[in-house]
Amino acid sequence: MSDSVNLKAKLEAHLSPDQVTLLREAASAARSLSRPLYLVGGVVRDLLMDQPIQDIDLVVEGDVTLLARTLAENLSGDVVAHSQFNTAKVDILGQSIDIVTARHETYRRPGALPTVKPGDIQDDLRRRDFTINAMAVRLSPEPSGKLLDPLDGRRDLSAKLVRVLHPGSFRDDATRILRALRYEQRLHFRLEQDTAVLLRRDLSMLDTIGGHRLRRELALTFHEREPRPILARLAHLGVLGSLHPPLARNRDMESMLARLHHGIPRLQLLHYLAWLAYPLRPAEAEGLIARLAMPKRWAAVVRDTVSTRHFATELTSSASPAAVYRRLSGLSLEAVQVAAALETNGAARESMTRYAEEWRKVRPLLTGQDIVKLGVAQGPQVGELLDLLLEARLKGGTTTRAEERALVRQRLEEP
Ligand code: CTP
Repeated sequence: MSDSVNLKAKLEAHLSPDQVTLLREAASAARSLSRPLYLVGGVVRDLLMDQPIQDIDLVVEGDVTLLARTLAENLSGDVVAHSQFNTAKVDILGQSIDIVTARHETYRRPGALPTVKPGDIQDDLRRRDFTINAMAVRLSPEPSGKLLDPLDGRRDLSAKLVRVLHPGSFRDDATRILRALRYEQRLHFRLEQDTAVLLRRDLSMLDTIGGHRLRRELALTFHEREPRPILARLAHLGVLGSLHPPLARNRDMESMLARLHHGIPRLQLLHYLAWLAYPLRPAEAEGLIARLAMPKRWAAVVRDTVSTRHFATELTSSASPAAVYRRLSGLSLEAVQVAAALETNGAARESMTRYAEEWRKVRPLLTGQDIVKLGVAQGPQVGELLDLLLEARLKGGTTTRAEERALVRQRLEEP
């Protein structure tokens, strides 16, 4: 069926003029080198679904470096990276494209990086994750635009199904568990029946994946246009609990997501991270940080979320703004915002929200220099006086520089 499909016109209609030029030049460079060249993966899927095209991935049968160099030379671009694994990244016409050598892959053990051998386009499609991602469009030789669909990706696109290529797929590479759910929710598809069974069966295979790779998958999920339904599925199917068992304890992750959306208008990656960390005890949070080999910023958000939540239990309606400020200043804003959005105690939520929205931005009007000019020697006393001024401003006791100067003088005159 796919043999008769030609996507040339569709390609020209969907790609930007620069992308069309780029593909034309890549095809002509490949022809001059007698190398078969294909457009592969997500771009073919998105093209067939009439979705916007983001990244262009090309596969060439044979050596990639020569093709990348020829293309870069012809269009005054740069080969910005290449590796012994026969991959190249070329920057041309304001965009970056990835070219890889067609490969055959096998996995020595679950979670290991694959053993790679050069292969043809058929091998390359068979090494992929899902049928909908395992199609190619031929660019060279002619006729260009021809669709290659040996694994029936188009059938699954029409049936709206995410289907693995073989029963060992999630065992080979358990990051595909997260990928499957990302595509399922992003495209409004379903997991094909056997794929759903395999996904549940192989959840424990997530243990074979290193922290860095898992974190990357989570980050891609957090960066999606709509992370919420994907995260709800990850919670519901036990994927989060398989990543870090204490996350299985909390049955409330999905309703927490709803509260998060209600409470914070523009959710960013670090807000979703704070949501993940929110139910954890401090030692469990450290476990999550280690499991995902988190960089400093992520680790700080996780720790700050747990500590803000703990602090909220001590917060009463009588806590002064200055006390709240002292406790929360220096903590990641995303952590405070998420802890506020998820807090069920009204007084605590109100204090944390006001801190995030107003109090954290409050500074005394006088600077340290101003205080020195009032006759205070440089040293710790300047800091103490600045704290005093901040407290007075948070309480609404001072609103002008003159009032602040008066307050400093009054304190200096006290015995
Ligand atoms: N791929 C795979 N197994 C993985 C990761 C990637 O088989 N664990 C293959 C898929 O064929 C995928 C292609 O590599 O289409 C490119 O990967 P990626 O850029 O992550 O995915 P896209 O399909 O481009 O999807 P997205 O729209 O999410 O960028």
